[in-house]
Amino acid sequence: MTAGRADAAGPGTPVAVSLAHGRLAGLDEIADVGRDAARGGYSRHLWQGPELELRGWFTERAARLCLDVETDRNGNLWAWWGLPGADAVVTGSHLDSVPGGGGYDGPLGVVSALDAVARLQASGFTPARPFAVLVFAEEEGSRFGVACLGSRLLSGAIDADTARALTDRNGVTLAEASARAGLDPAHLGADPASIERIGLFIELHVEQGRGLIDLGRPVAVASSILAHGRWRLSFSGQGNHAGATSMAARRDPMIAAARAIVAVQDAALAQPGSRATVGRLEVVPGGTNVIASTVHAWLDARAETDTETRTLVTEITARAQEEAATNGCSATVTEESWAPQVRFDPVLRERFALALGDVPRLPSGAGHDAGVLARRVPSAMLFVRNPTGISHAPEEFAERDDCAAGVEALEQLLRDLL
Ligand code: GLV
Ligand code: MN
Ligand code: MN
Repeated sequence: MTAGRADAAGPGTPVAVSLAHGRLAGLDEIADVGRDAARGGYSRHLWQGPELELRGWFTERAARLCLDVETDRNGNLWAWWGLPGADAVVTGSHLDSVPGGGGYDGPLGVVSALDAVARLQASGFTPARPFAVLVFAEEEGSRFGVACLGSRLLSGAIDADTARALTDRNGVTLAEASARAGLDPAHLGADPASIERIGLFIELHVEQGRGLIDLGRPVAVASSILAHGRWRLSFSGQGNHAGATSMAARRDPMIAAARAIVAVQDAALAQPGSRATVGRLEVVPGGTNVIASTVHAWLDARAETDTETRTLVTEITARAQEEAATNGCSATVTEESWAPQVRFDPVLRERFALALGDVPRLPSGAGHDAGVLARRVPSAMLFVRNPTGISHAPEEFAERDDCAAGVEALEQLLRDLL
């Protein structure tokens, strides 16, 4: 962690929010944590060095605001202003990233929440209702493959045994990793006592598309999230010698996978509004002079409705199996995660949009913990303009003035709610 300017301050000292200068100091403080020299951007993965460092940073920042930090049984961090209690207003986001991701997806919501608290405190405000800043674990699913894992566990949207058995790329299970992080793996899973405390959840997030650029506005509220999920397409053939095996004698799963990946694009193009991506491949054994024996390709598929998304994946599955058969291989398709379409509570959405001066209502192509929580508690999102329109990549960005507009919007909503 870089030595932030505010490091001179001690516990109990209000965070010197530099919004007066149109800056979010918190983002500057963590700007060097988890930089990925090979991929560019940031790689901050659950319970690994940089993500642990960010947890420490958050805990220290929250302590300076006199918030009491607790880690729940699933590794989510809660920072309470006053005593924990029922019908709490909760705001937050996540600190983990995709591999080689941007610096705003997740941290902007956490830093903005802390800054909103600092501004409320600086104005002498005291909440009349329980309030917490919440940092979700493993939102991107970059280590264990399931997006929004912390909020799914908290809300019971993933079965605890299934979650415990998830493995990272080195074969470490979630159960093992959680134990190393100081949690009791037996306690992973649905946490009714924690989720039932939440009266309302708000997540502020950098926008991950061009909606606000096109509208020329800094802030919006979310209307919906696409249905989406992840599937592993595994192609098996015959590993063999690259020089000694004639082209006619091969059962090469790389060819089946390559043709199936082109079919992924065709299927998504044939269904307007849907999106399908293969962004990760694993070739076994992976030698230049070796015909692969197996190729795993991870599919991310999204569409407005659950049915459209399922239809798209059914079509892709059929095409993958066809391409496997044509190339003397076999294919299996395994669902790794599923998130149904989300429509945010329209009453809350309209209330917030109007309170903020009739800001736009925008759909999201990205998934969020707020979407998972929306199935259990009234939830809403604020989006802050991203002038590049790019996300999950180092070019992700938000202008300081727009960040400031986001914090001010969040502060205003919290002041009304609390
Ligand atoms: C998370 O950002 C996702 O939409 O995959
Ligand atoms: Mn995010
Ligand atoms: Mn993301």
